[in-house]
Amino acid sequence: MNPIKRGRIITGNWKMNKTHAQALDFIKNLIPQLTNEAVQVFLAVPFTVIYSSSKEAVGTPLVIGAQNMNDASEGAFTGEIAALMLKEAGAQFVILGHSERRYYFHEDDAFINRKIKRALSMQIRPVLCIGETLEERESGRTQEIIDNQLRSCLADIPADTLKNLIVAYEPVWAVGALEGATPEQAQEIHAACRVCLSEILNAEIAQQIVIQYGGTVNSDNAGAFLEQPDIDGLLVGRASLSLQSFIEIINPLNNEDET
Ligand code: PGA
Repeated sequence: MNPIKRGRIITGNWKMNKTHAQALDFIKNLIPQLTNEAVQVFLAVPFTVIYSSSKEAVGTPLVIGAQNMNDASEGAFTGEIAALMLKEAGAQFVILGHSERRYYFHEDDAFINRKIKRALSMQIRPVLCIGETLEERESGRTQEIIDNQLRSCLADIPADTLKNLIVAYEPVWAVGALEGATPEQAQEIHAACRVCLSEILNAEIAQQIVIQYGGTVNSDNAGAFLEQPDIDGLLVGRASLSLQSFIEIINPLNNEDET
């Protein structure tokens, strides 16, 4: 796994969208526009396009990854995919514990913990998604939920192997919604995540871990999130599906850095 630095890591999460032809067309047009080394662009694509997308991305700044995987190394798990298969196809990272996986497929923290261990053992960077539901937020439990998710999902993993982890704070109520968190709300939780990470791991590693915000990110609000001191990047769903809107999130950043 290549070392990763805190900074601006923008990850597109395509979810269950795009055919092979659509994906390759998007990626071929995206790559020439990735000109600023200060912004790292990751793309979590469907399993069926990981292999071709990774080949297209070789020698470019684009990093291709997957949206899920199983914790077992192989076996009778119909419909599942193993870390080795993702690795062989060219995936460099994998999103784990996304709220849609937790909600629709009943994934719990113990399962996600095993998946993280498996991904790390295969040198695939885990992107761990955490976040509270609206009910949990309204009952004042956000901090407790985030702490519990981090502690359970990262249990029994040596601290030094976690420095290449990415954490994505995605409040469940903000994913796929009309309105997401405000940058200030997100910053408050990101700072709290870092405190929790320094307790679970240690202060030095907690300072290195990339914490992305996700949930209704678009070109109008992306810049304000990235101005926050503990927001190191964005996990973008709907706005990563159109090349124009994804580029609008990436390129204002490029322009800022060039001035
Ligand atoms: P959204 O999705 O940007 O469409 O809200 C974010 C995500 O699920 O990662």
